[in-house]
Amino acid sequence: MRTQVSDRAAATCILMLCLVCLHVTALKSQLFTRLGALPYSPEPPVSYKTFYFDQKIDHFGFLEDGTFKQRYLLSDKYWQQPGGPILFYTGNEGDITWFCNNTGFMWEIAEELGAMLVFAEHRYYGESLPFGPDSYSDSKHLNYLTSEQALADFAVLIQNLKGSLPGAQHSPVIAVGGSYGGMLSAWFRMKYPHVVVGALASSAPIWQFTGMVPCGDFYKIVTQDFAKSGHNCDASIRKSWKAINNVSSTVSGLQWLSEEFSLCAPLKNKNDIFTFKSWLQETWVNLAMVDYPYEANFLQPLPRWPIQVVCKYLSFDSAVSDYQLLQGVSQAAKVYYNYTGSSPCLNTSQTATSSLGYLGWFYQACTEMVMPMCTDGVQDMFEPEEWNFQAFSDECYAMFGVRPRADWAGAVYGGKEISSHSNIIFSNGGLDPWASGGVTSNISHSLVSIMIPDGAHHLDLRYSNDLDPPSVRAARALEVKSFREWIKKAKKTHCAAPTH
Ligand SMILES: *[C@@H]1O[C@H](CO)[C@@H](O)[C@H](O)[C@H]1NC(C)=O
Ligand SMILES: *[C@@H]1O[C@H](CO)[C@@H](O)[C@H](O)[C@H]1NC(C)=O
Ligand SMILES: *[C@@H]1O[C@H](CO)[C@@H](O)[C@H](O)[C@H]1NC(C)=O
Ligand SMILES: *[C@@H]1O[C@H](CO)[C@@H](O)[C@H](O)[C@H]1NC(C)=O
Ligand SMILES: *[C@@H]1O[C@H](CO)[C@@H](O)[C@H](O)[C@H]1NC(C)=O
Repeated sequence: MRTQVSDRAAATCILMLCLVCLHVTALKSQLFTRLGALPYSPEPPVSYKTFYFDQKIDHFGFLEDGTFKQRYLLSDKYWQQPGGPILFYTGNEGDITWFCNNTGFMWEIAEELGAMLVFAEHRYYGESLPFGPDSYSDSKHLNYLTSEQALADFAVLIQNLKGSLPGAQHSPVIAVGGSYGGMLSAWFRMKYPHVVVGALASSAPIWQFTGMVPCGDFYKIVTQDFAKSGHNCDASIRKSWKAINNVSSTVSGLQWLSEEFSLCAPLKNKNDIFTFKSWLQETWVNLAMVDYPYEANFLQPLPRWPIQVVCKYLSFDSAVSDYQLLQGVSQAAKVYYNYTGSSPCLNTSQTATSSLGYLGWFYQACTEMVMPMCTDGVQDMFEPEEWNFQAFSDECYAMFGVRPRADWAGAVYGGKEISSHSNIIFSNGGLDPWASGGVTSNISHSLVSIMIPDGAHHLDLRYSNDLDPPSVRAARALEVKSFREWIKKAKKTHCAAPTH
């Protein structure tokens, strides 16, 4: 049981990126009420037009001939016609407007590149549901929720835009994406090099799959982030699991824990404690993903360098009692869940919601996106747990009636054998646990890795900020330089063509 539920937690990490849409919108207004004008908010409002494109439900077979309306957002304010470049965001597991809002980098470089911006929603997320609200009700429908279908959607959409927008026929297109969206942008360039001249794959763990990287690397990075953010911070968290087990062994201890953590629903039994620990583990992982150098509202509204703030409550020495330690853990968790002061209670099933993003991503993790994760409690600060594919597979079968194909992602996208491709930038943050599955060294002159040592999850895609470390400024500059080279080369190729 333990393994199964925990496997789920591991496999759903990326998906945090999408669950969040709901939180973010709900909390934004509260944040503004409490803090008034945010000190860091020179972010210009984004402005785009929303369109819907009739997309084939199944690109790869001919029996299902239906279509669905794929949502995409378009901004041509700075587009230089004819032939100005198109920056195309390959949408991931959530509402595309939320990704659009959180990809300030594209908005900031549109003018200097004279680029049109397009943000394409991934099928089965946001409003792009092939079978309407029923999309998730029948696993037969979910059969068309694959990255291959999503890439085909993007290709068909781009071909259509080029054919229908005056002045776009010869526009070079560059794919941009973060996280799973970054994996898609890299794969898009690999599979459709005639459609995009290059790709920026930010924090894209394209090697997080079976047999490609050690399963423990992900949680090692999480642990390192805490280790370097405060005295004994990782050690305290490592100790907290036993403390929870001990304290929760009595009825009064359970009650104390529930009250100390201000839980919405009191802990009653072993099962609740298991959920509670998984929830805490996910909290630390999420903090590692969003350890940004400035106050930000990505997964949750958080202070600048939130792990440092969290670690202030966790700097215990070895004599600390279980109760003191857990009091610190509770205060630390509340930095994440109650920074705005507007949470009445903490909900340990918050990440188990059946929102569309959650189900969609979990289905993808249960089919072709199998990402093994494990912990040993020594090199990381978590309870030891091996990767158990069979247990994971059984859980997928129980949930969706499908079993994962552990090796498919490697077979279809090449795994580590990608050197024959070109024009892809893989950027990764040293603080981001997903860097564990990322491309972190240069593969060839045009498959380039950019490391941002003090960056968390796709920091480079966010709006620039006065508190940005030099490493992310340098990364963005290098990215734009490559964009310009790709665009220039595409124009030259086109001009040399006899048809011109
Ligand atoms: C995106 O930003 C706009 C304002 O520019 C806002 O109205 C909208 O609610 C945001 N969407 C999400 C999902 O955060
Ligand atoms: C377990 O908790 C009790 C109080 O409930 C405490 O006295 C004891 O020291 C704890 N044991 C360990 C090993 O920390
Ligand atoms: C969140 O913070 C507010 C303001 O400090 C406080 O009143 C409230 O009790 C806190 N909620 C939780 C769950 O701790
Ligand atoms: C806790 O979260 C779950 C999932 O989002 C929700 O169904 C439930 O109502 C929440 N409980 C409370 C007390 O807020
Ligand atoms: C890859 O090469 C580029 C120069 O093309 C360099 O700036 C970058 O630091 C290299 N990346 C790594 C991870 O060494």
